[in-house]
Amino acid sequence: MKRNPVVPFILIMVFGIGLMFILSFKGLGDGKEIAKGEGEGSEKTEVAASKPEDIYKSTCIACHGDQYQGGMGPSLKGVGDRLSKDEIKKVITEGRGSMPPNQVKPEQSDMMADWLMKLK
Ligand code: HEC
Repeated sequence: MKRNPVVPFILIMVFGIGLMFILSFKGLGDGKEIAKGEGEGSEKTEVAASKPEDIYKSTCIACHGDQYQGGMGPSLKGVGDRLSKDEIKKVITEGRGSMPPNQVKPEQSDMMADWLMKLK
């Protein structure tokens, strides 16, 4: 029997198309995994953002400085010696002077004030 010289090419073509399908399905799966990964990541950042240090870094640092040394706002070092915890809570939720109000969510103001009391 004479072999048809086109057969190997057809085989390669079929194999190639098959591979394309397999890879594109794998690609879809990867896409889902990546999306899942991002979901988990954003959950983590939300948890992280409820730590006083992270709230400070995202919300307060611009006015109170990266070392709590102050800038547009006063230094927060030793603020616990100047103000009571309740006074601090009032400042960070209601604002004072040129400090805007609602810097911290009410449910976070307690731990934020605790943390600020300890700044040295
Ligand atoms: C837009 C700038 C700005 C931002 C953002 C800001 N502050 Fe202030 N903060 C000020 C200013 C200005 C004052 C001084 C207010 C005054 O003169 O009565 C102040 C005062 C304070 C005081 C009282 C300090 C003292 O010695 O009496 C505390 C505590 C404080 N801020 C904490 C924070 C915290 C915590 C955050 C972030 C959650 C924050 N601030 C974000 C500007 C800011």
